[in-house]
Amino acid sequence: MTEFKHNIASSVKNAIAKLYPAAVISEEEIFGMLEYPPDDTMGDVAFPCFKLSRTLRAAPPKIAAALFAELEAMPPKGAGKVQLVGGYINFFASCEFFAESVLAPLCEKGADYGRTDEGAGKTVVLDYSSPNTAKPFHIGHLGTTVIGHSLKLLHEYRGYSCVGINHLGDWGTQFGKLITAYRKWGSREDIETGGIDKLVELYVKFHEEAEKDPALGDEARAEFTKLEHGDEENLALWRWFIDISLAEYQKTYAQLGITFDSYNGESFYTDKMPEQVELLREKNLMKIDDGASIVDLSEYNMPPCLILKRDGSTLYPTRDIAAAVYRDRTYHFDKCIYVTSAGQSLHFAQWFKVVELMGYDFASKLYHVPYGTVSIGGEKLATRTGNVILLRDLFATSVEKVRAIMEEKNPNMQNKDEAAEAVGVGAIVFYYLSSNRIRDINFVMEEALDFNGNTGPYAQYTYARTCSILSKLGEEAAGAKAPLCTSLDKTERDLMKTFSLFPEKVDEAIAGMEPSIVTRYILELCGAFNRFYQACPIATCEDAEKRALRISLTRGTRDILGKALELICIKHPEKI
Ligand code: ARG
Repeated sequence: MTEFKHNIASSVKNAIAKLYPAAVISEEEIFGMLEYPPDDTMGDVAFPCFKLSRTLRAAPPKIAAALFAELEAMPPKGAGKVQLVGGYINFFASCEFFAESVLAPLCEKGADYGRTDEGAGKTVVLDYSSPNTAKPFHIGHLGTTVIGHSLKLLHEYRGYSCVGINHLGDWGTQFGKLITAYRKWGSREDIETGGIDKLVELYVKFHEEAEKDPALGDEARAEFTKLEHGDEENLALWRWFIDISLAEYQKTYAQLGITFDSYNGESFYTDKMPEQVELLREKNLMKIDDGASIVDLSEYNMPPCLILKRDGSTLYPTRDIAAAVYRDRTYHFDKCIYVTSAGQSLHFAQWFKVVELMGYDFASKLYHVPYGTVSIGGEKLATRTGNVILLRDLFATSVEKVRAIMEEKNPNMQNKDEAAEAVGVGAIVFYYLSSNRIRDINFVMEEALDFNGNTGPYAQYTYARTCSILSKLGEEAAGAKAPLCTSLDKTERDLMKTFSLFPEKVDEAIAGMEPSIVTRYILELCGAFNRFYQACPIATCEDAEKRALRISLTRGTRDILGKALELICIKHPEKI
């Protein structure tokens, strides 16, 4: 609809220039005033004339009548009908508009309908997923992982070159704890066979024991200090723990179809921090508070940002500052996006301010994208204890349930394993990405898996249906061009209008860093397609032109739906 809106804005501008030669108003301002009416009897796009009364210094009814007379005589390009209702001028897009400006480019570009190169030459760095190694990948990480990856894919679709970074939490006192626990209670064989679960067990045991015996804490700190000073044995253990953790994460990433361009975690910045600490000192930004080095941010209504502990060791913000400088020098980014839970909002606000005070220009290009908490059945998820819900287990349960449904519905299906995994995992991701990211979510498996609800399985089924319709039509489906039909069934028109909104939804999702806009669009598209499919037969349609139109509508749905699912990290098998 963007193109249609531009045509309207241009015509409205010309009409105003003719009627009110002294008026100063730009086409962009007019574009910004255009609205989508709440229902389609009021047109596809509406112009609220009262918004001009101040600029034009005239009464709204007078403006409306004069503008309407002009626009009715000279309608915007692509408009079939222009109507004046209660101060609004309503514009209806014509059949030609849909044929030429929506369906023709869609037939030509397929899944690239909606791709642009506006980001060409610009780089976006995205820091997401970033689990703390040797701790389990639990349901709280789902948000950063899928929101982050989706934002990456959305930016790529707009031509940006993107760098996905998994900023692993691979450094810190937890490694001292793990090393201590491993030496006391662990064994190599156990961990080689049990993987990350054994590491987590050790970590949990450490916390239980440390409650009884506080000396354990000192031991762990001493082991971490040894690690920091390059102790060979501790370094080898540390590397091994990380490899074990990464192997586990990779399984989850593979289920989601996610890869990263860099796994430079916190440890990577060890040798890059002194330069920044030095700069902070030179610029007189640091002060000593109770032995620790901090940057006072009271002027900005924030608690101080901690740079060095009393013993001189670095902290989470110190590493983030060094990492941002490194990324600026390495990638020359136009945006650097951090996706984490809202619980870290203050941390980001603090160190973003610190780099600004340090004089780094890139400070204005840093974006924190926060998201809400996830609970299951109303329970919040803990991290320090063993009682957490692992993403892996959640996926496995979902996949198992989907498999059982498939066995029942279609026992002879060929690609059952692959399809059950795509649908089971997709259901969870779709459910998660259905609401605005900042909202807290209470996860209900039954809702996520409802094949008839507004769910991932429903969207994937709709996709598979388009594939099956097209494959039954064979050659004909591949060759059909978009014809110009002079009359359209309402469901055909609605479907084309829904197509035309896809590029705008991608824009909105990027502007708001909000993948859920795409998720909700997918539901609109599925709804529009399913209504069309019920009302408009294809295989039995004998009118050649209509038949070609309906085939191209089905193909368009397949292409946009497949791409939209992909943009929110959901796989789409052709057969379910
Ligand atoms: N490892 C952190 C956590 O799990 C998230 C890291 C986010 N990225 C960053 N550059 N601070 O809470």
